[in-house]
Amino acid sequence: MNAWSVRPARVEDAKAIVGLVSYYADKGLLLPRSLSHIYSHIRDYMVAEVDGRVVGCGALEVVWGGLGEVRSLAVEEGMRGLGIGRALVEHLLEDARRLGLDKVFALTYIEDFFEQFGFRRVPKESLPHKIWRDCIHCPKFPECDEVAMILELT
Ligand SMILES: CC(C)(COP(=O)(O)OP(=O)(O)OC[C@H]1O[C@@H](n2cnc3c(N)ncnc32)[C@H](O)[C@@H]1OP(=O)(O)O)[C@@H](O)C(=O)NCCC(=O)NCCS
Repeated sequence: MNAWSVRPARVEDAKAIVGLVSYYADKGLLLPRSLSHIYSHIRDYMVAEVDGRVVGCGALEVVWGGLGEVRSLAVEEGMRGLGIGRALVEHLLEDARRLGLDKVFALTYIEDFFEQFGFRRVPKESLPHKIWRDCIHCPKFPECDEVAMILELT
């Protein structure tokens, strides 16, 4: 197997991104995303590829002035543990800095993973109400057991 690399997503990656996100959405780990949603947010996404095949993805969505969210982070089951997830997050955070964001948050079950980048757990109530707009579409709503984590970039 050749080395993997991370790059901004292109439109032809959209179906592979849906496949990755759906796989983990079925396990209750991610929110499902439609192909239409991925196309319209394609500029938010980074993908990891090996030999032209997409094996990982993650998105940075600008939520509000100064605030971004890491979303839809997924690495193909057989490719986990190789540093791809970390590289995806690092690329997304680099993009957040380029965009001039002050803070990035994530809603997650894997606190340890996000801590390595400096994210710290915060009360969910401290995040702006706007972020909950997607939650009503979540099968777990309103019994959300994810934790909110935030990283200050400045
Ligand atoms: C979370 C995920 C993206 C990590 O991707 P990955 O490529 O396997 O992670 P990496 O290989 O880059 O791991 C980097 C570090 O994070 C740690 N880590 C990886 N997955 C972890 C997890 N689920 N929980 C805690 N730590 C984790 C690794 O041990 C590694 O640390 P090390 O370098 O000290 O060994 C991947 O496991 C995944 O797709 N999970 C299912 C979907 C999901 O839960 N997404 C996150 C929603 S917010």
